[in-house]
Amino acid sequence: MSKLAQAQAIPPPNPLEELTAHLSDDMKSVNALILERMNSEVPLIPQLAGYLIAAGGKRIRPLMTLASTRLFDQTTDRPYRLATAVEFIHTATLLHDDVVDESDQRRGQASANTLFGNQSSVLVGDFLFSKSFELMVEDGSIDVLDILSKASAVIAEGEVLQLSIQNTLETTLDQYLQVISAKTAALFAAACEIGPVITGQPSEIRQAMRNYGHHVGMAFQIADDVLDYQSNTKELGKSIGDDFKEGKMTAPVIFAYEFADEKGKKFWIRTFEQKELTEKDLEHAQKLIKTTGSSQKTLDLAQNHIKLAQNALKNVGDSEMKSILHQLADYALTRKN
Ligand code: IPE
Ligand code: IPE
Ligand code: MG
Ligand code: MG
Repeated sequence: MSKLAQAQAIPPPNPLEELTAHLSDDMKSVNALILERMNSEVPLIPQLAGYLIAAGGKRIRPLMTLASTRLFDQTTDRPYRLATAVEFIHTATLLHDDVVDESDQRRGQASANTLFGNQSSVLVGDFLFSKSFELMVEDGSIDVLDILSKASAVIAEGEVLQLSIQNTLETTLDQYLQVISAKTAALFAAACEIGPVITGQPSEIRQAMRNYGHHVGMAFQIADDVLDYQSNTKELGKSIGDDFKEGKMTAPVIFAYEFADEKGKKFWIRTFEQKELTEKDLEHAQKLIKTTGSSQKTLDLAQNHIKLAQNALKNVGDSEMKSILHQLADYALTRKN
C-alpha cells in the first residue's frame, strides 16, 4: 500500500479521541479514583457499578472538567476528585434513566437493570450519587458544591418534566429544549464551570465556560435524539427506537408532527397518543422523520448550539486545549455513539 493510501486508510482521530489522548495522564488518575470510590463492603455495589463502568462510556463529562482546568492551570490535581464526582452523577443518572426508560442495552451490553433488576439499579444509582457528594465535600469548595448540587436537582427535574409530557403531541419545541437543558446540558455546563472556579478565574470566564458546556450539552442531546431514530444498535451501543416506544417528545417527532400531512398526523396520533404500536411503525416513523425534513431541521437546531458553544470560547485565551474544545463542539453532532 502506498503512503498516501495508508494515510487515507487510517481515519484521523476524532476530537474526543484527541482530547482523551491529550489528557491521558490526568484520566488515569480519574479512572483510578472512579474504581476506588465505587467500592463498598456490600458486594453487589462494586459488582453492578463495575459492570457499567468497565463497559467504558466516553467519559466526555470528566474530560471536560479536566480540560476546563488545564486551560488555566497545568499542574493542579484538584480536578481529579471533581471529575470523578461528575462521572458518578452521570453514571447514577444512567442507572436510573434505564429503569425509567425500560432500556435493555447500554454501552454495547445488556443494561444493568436487565441483568441485576430495577431495584438494584436504583439503589446503586443512589449510592453513586451520594459518593459524588462525598468527593465534593473532600474537595472543600462551596462554589463547586453549589454548582453540582444544583445541577443534580435540575437533572432530576428534567427527567420528571420529560415524563410528564410523554405521549403529548402538543409539546412545543420550547418545552423540549427546557427538558434537554435540564436533563443533559446542566451537567455539561457544570462540568465546564468547575475548571475556572477551582483555578480562580473571573466571573466572565466562568460564565463563558458554563455557556460553552451548556451549548455542547444541548447539541449532544439533540444528536442523541436523532441517533435514536437513525443509528443502529450495534454502533450506538444502546437499542434504537427506545424513544419511539416510550412516546418521548423529542425534536425529530415534534418537527415531523408539525410538518405532517393529514395521514402523517393520524400516524403520530395513533402511535404517540393512543399508544397503539405495531411492528412496522418504527420503520415508518423513521421514514416520516426523513421525508418531512424533520431530520434536517433537527440537525440545524443542533448546529446552532454548536455555533453558540464555539462563540462562548471567544472569551477564553487561545491555546491548544481551547482549539480541541472548539472541535469537540462539532463532535457533539458528528459522533456515532
Ligand atoms: C448518554 O450519555 C446520556 C445522554 C445524555 C444522551 P453519553 O453518551 O455520554 O454516555 P456514555 O457515558 O458515553 O455511555
Ligand atoms: C439521557 O436521556 C439523560 C440522562 C441520563 C439524564 P436519554 O434517555 O435520551 O439517554 P439515553 O438515550 O437513554 O442514553
Ligand atoms: Mg434513556
Ligand atoms: Mg436517548
